[in-house]
Amino acid sequence: RQKKIPRDKTLDGTLTLLRSDGYEFIRKRCQQYGTDMFQTRLLGKKMICFGGEEAARCFYNPALFKRKGVLPHRIQASLFGVGGVQGLDGVDHWQRKHLFLSLMTPAKRQDILTLTAEEWQRAIQKWSKQETVILFEEAQELICRAMCAWVGVPLAEEEARARAFDFGAMVDAFGAVGPRHWCGRLARKRAEKWLASLIEEIRRGAVSVSKDCAAYHIAFYRENGHELPPRIAAVELINFIRPTVAMSYFITFAALALHAYPAYRERLQHDDDFLEFFVQELRRYYPFAPLLGARARHTVIWHGYRIPKGSMVLLDLYGTNHDPRIWKDPDVFRPERFQSWNESPYNFIPQGGGDFGNGHRCPGEWLTIEALRLAVRFLVREMTYTVPQQDLHVSLTRIPALPESKFLMKQVQPVR
Ligand code: HEM
Repeated sequence: RQKKIPRDKTLDGTLTLLRSDGYEFIRKRCQQYGTDMFQTRLLGKKMICFGGEEAARCFYNPALFKRKGVLPHRIQASLFGVGGVQGLDGVDHWQRKHLFLSLMTPAKRQDILTLTAEEWQRAIQKWSKQETVILFEEAQELICRAMCAWVGVPLAEEEARARAFDFGAMVDAFGAVGPRHWCGRLARKRAEKWLASLIEEIRRGAVSVSKDCAAYHIAFYRENGHELPPRIAAVELINFIRPTVAMSYFITFAALALHAYPAYRERLQHDDDFLEFFVQELRRYYPFAPLLGARARHTVIWHGYRIPKGSMVLLDLYGTNHDPRIWKDPDVFRPERFQSWNESPYNFIPQGGGDFGNGHRCPGEWLTIEALRLAVRFLVREMTYTVPQQDLHVSLTRIPALPESKFLMKQVQPVR
C-alpha cells in the first residue's frame, strides 16, 4: 500500500536549515513526523528528504538516482566549481573518478603522509616559538603546503598562508549566506585562475613538474580523445587540494575531543588500533558534510513511498551517522563502538556511502583516515601544549561546524 510522504509546513526551509536547525534539519523533522522521509521546499524547490541506512542504500543506487544538474549554482560557484567530477554520471563519471582513484593508491597516499609528517614537525618547531597557536588555521596551512608539494603545484613560502586561506574559504562558504559565501566565491575565482594557467604552462613545458605528480596527470589526462579545458583541469586539481585542506576541521575536532575526553590520551599514546577507532568516532560524531542531493532517474518506490521521476532527494549524512537504530547513544563520543562496527558502506557515511568507483563516494576517504591518525599521533605523542580559556562551543547551525575559538593552544613544545 502506498504511503503519503509527510509535507513540511514551512513555506521554504532554507533559512530554518541555515539559521535554526542546521545539521539537525532532516533528523528533527523525521522524528517529528515519525517517518524516514518528508517533503519540503529548499532554495525555492521541492525536495524529498530522507536518512538512515536504508535511505543511503537507495540513494547510492546509480540506477535510481543521478547527479547531473543537481548541484545548486551557489555550491558550484564556491565549494565545487563547474564541470568537476561531482556533477557527472555514468561513463563520464566513471572515467573521471578513475583519475582520482588512480592517484589515491596506498603508495601515493604514503608519499602524502610523509610530506605531511614533515610539515607537522616543522610546524611544531614554529609553534614552540609562538605565544598562541590557532590550530585550525595552522592545520590548514600545513596541509596546504604538503598537498601542493605532492600534487606538484609550486608554492612560494610567502604565498602558502593566503592560498591555504583560499582553499579553506571555498569550504567555509558552503553553508553560508552573505560575506562568508562571497569570500568563498572570490577564493575559487582566484584559485581557478592560478591553477588553470599552471595547467597551460605544464602543457607548454614552461613549468616542469614530475611525470608522477597529480598536476601532470591532470594536465595530460584525456577524455574522449581531448585534454580537459584548463579551467576544468583546475577544478579537478582543486578537488585534490581543497578537501585535503578541509581535514583541518577534523584535526581541530581531534584536539577538541582530546581536551573534552582526556582519559583517551593515555591509550592513544601506545595503542595503534585504538587510534583508528578514535579517528572513526571523530568522523562519525562531529559534524561536517550535512547532506547530499540527487535526482530520481525514474519513479522510485521506497518503503511504500512514491518518489516521482525527476524529484530531488536529499540524503541526511549527519543524521545517518547519529541514527539511534544504527548507533547506540549516538550523541555520546565513544570510540570503542568501532571495535564492533560491521563496516557497512551505508551506515557510516561522513564522506558519502556506497561504492568508490561506480558511485560518488569520496576517493579521499582512506587518505582522510590515515592523515587523521597521523594528526592525532602528533597531537598526543609528538608535542605537549596547554589549552587556555576559550570558547570551544560547536554550533550545529554553523555549516561547516567548527569550535568558536578554532582551538587555541599555548606553550607548545616538541617531545624529544
Ligand atoms: C566526495 C567528504 C576528504 C576528494 C566527497 C563527498 C563527501 C566528502 C561527503 C560526497 C560524496 C557523494 O557525493 O556521494 C569529505 C570529507 C573529507 C574529504 C569529510 C575530509 C575532511 C577528501 C580528500 C580528497 C577528497 C582528502 C582528495 C582526494 C573528493 C572528491 C569527491 C569527494 C574528488 C567527488 C567524488 C565523486 O563525485 O565521485 N567527499 N571528503 N575528499 N571527495 Fe571528499
